[in-house]
Amino acid sequence: MTTRPASANGLAPADVLPLDQFIRFRDLIEDRCGLHFDESQRASLSASLRARMQQLGLDRLDDYYDRLQARSADDEFRKLINLVTITETCFFRDQLQFRLLRRHILPTLLAERAGQPKPTLRIWSAGCSSGEEAYSVALMLWDMGLYLTYPDWTFEIVGSDVNTEVLDAARRGVYSARALRNVEGDWLRRYFRPDGLQFRLNDEVRGGVRFEYRNLTQAPLPRSSSGHDIVFCKNVAIYFRPEMTRRLVRGLHQSLADGGYLLLGHSESLWQMAEGFALVEHEGGFCYRKAASGAEAERRRDPKAMGRPRSAGARPKTSARPAGARHRAAPPPVEAHVATAGQYERCLRAFRAGEWTEAETSLDSLIQSTPTFLPAHLLLGGVYAHRGRYEEAREQAERVLRLSDLEPRAHLLLGMIAARRGRLDEALQALRRVLYLDDSLALAHFWLGNLYRDRGDIERACHEYQNVIRDWDRHTLELTEEFASDLSAEQLVSFCRSSLQRLRPCG
Ligand SMILES: C[S@@+](CC[C@H](N)C(=O)[O-])C[C@H]1O[C@@H](n2cnc3c(N)ncnc32)[C@H](O)[C@@H]1O
Repeated sequence: MTTRPASANGLAPADVLPLDQFIRFRDLIEDRCGLHFDESQRASLSASLRARMQQLGLDRLDDYYDRLQARSADDEFRKLINLVTITETCFFRDQLQFRLLRRHILPTLLAERAGQPKPTLRIWSAGCSSGEEAYSVALMLWDMGLYLTYPDWTFEIVGSDVNTEVLDAARRGVYSARALRNVEGDWLRRYFRPDGLQFRLNDEVRGGVRFEYRNLTQAPLPRSSSGHDIVFCKNVAIYFRPEMTRRLVRGLHQSLADGGYLLLGHSESLWQMAEGFALVEHEGGFCYRKAASGAEAERRRDPKAMGRPRSAGARPKTSARPAGARHRAAPPPVEAHVATAGQYERCLRAFRAGEWTEAETSLDSLIQSTPTFLPAHLLLGGVYAHRGRYEEAREQAERVLRLSDLEPRAHLLLGMIAARRGRLDEALQALRRVLYLDDSLALAHFWLGNLYRDRGDIERACHEYQNVIRDWDRHTLELTEEFASDLSAEQLVSFCRSSLQRLRPCG
């Protein structure tokens, strides 16, 4: 498609919007529902806008803009949103998380809520698209027999979305074989019946789920009397910019009950936003849990929760991220600004030069004077690892986790040490945890790639190597220098390229 400058009366329908108009419309959309369009999406956004203008018989972009801004514009805005939202989904999309739901979250909540006068579980699929996620939960409750075993309980499942067309589809409950690809044959027979080439969900399961229109970026988010117990908000914030995601996470936190669970997608970690949440892990699946009123009570009740909820500003950064990186570093704590930062730079220089003894001695003294300065702890862990002192490196990583339990670099160090010691299952688990917390750490992708390759899982290995190359191409690769003194980013990428070439010679 070609781009032409705007003419006085707007663009002809086949044209891409000029940059200034594109910015005006995309800012309006972002302001109303959080979706951010970058320049690579200019043509597709233009097509959606022009489709609406054509239906309304409008030629001028300005007229359409005015229409969207008018007081009574809600209806038109929804029609436009129906065209621009990405609604890809399927039943049981993330199987590890559904296993976590079945084997850990539901049993925990059922045990904790037992004995309450009117026990209730409130589950919300926020950004539910055509309902597959919310119905997956309902199917799981049916399959676990919860409606029969807990007749006094109320199980409330709500799906919400900003796209009215997918909500209509959700209410219909008729799905293609593709949407049902992760549903086991037995469940398909028991809970669905054929409807032409598609499958219709049975009325009993369907009746247990309610769907409603809700825009997640318009405060306040719903909070039933005692809050939601489980919130799925998966693959929604990936289309938001960090500030909007931060707002959304704050809103979701408020809408959760104490001890409620938040399930996010793979690339939507709460990196730097996890205040008030603890990471929960079960059999390779991850989610977050809102702290109960007392952190101790939380820990006692949920032995799987990894330590305390994070506190704000507890995560200083240790290595520079190239411009354009997806996450921005939190500023180091105030005490680190002058003396500590200078001292740390000297340690880093010694580390880069391979002067291990010098680096170790200076880091020891820096940690003595500023015991909560995480970068020094991590770098010391890196020094130990480079010198093959794995037990000390592991202890160092554990020390970091006691200061900040969601620190992905500490989990990365644990994963690398486990891999070097040949403890492969432990390494896989730690590295998957890293990527749930921060999927931009290239070393985690790289090590995972190597582990999968060694296990003969070529598909996954290639995927991980491709992630490194993708981040490099996007200038968002994060090397984690403190654990890679012998490896530059270029070498890492070149290793991933040649590994890919060896594993898939024909691409
Ligand atoms: C990719 S789908 C994810 C569906 C499902 N959660 C999953 O992971 O399979 C993203 C959904 O988020 C919805 N969405 C995007 N922005 C939203 C907003 N501001 N409020 C509510 N829903 C939104 C979209 O309409 C879309 O249906």
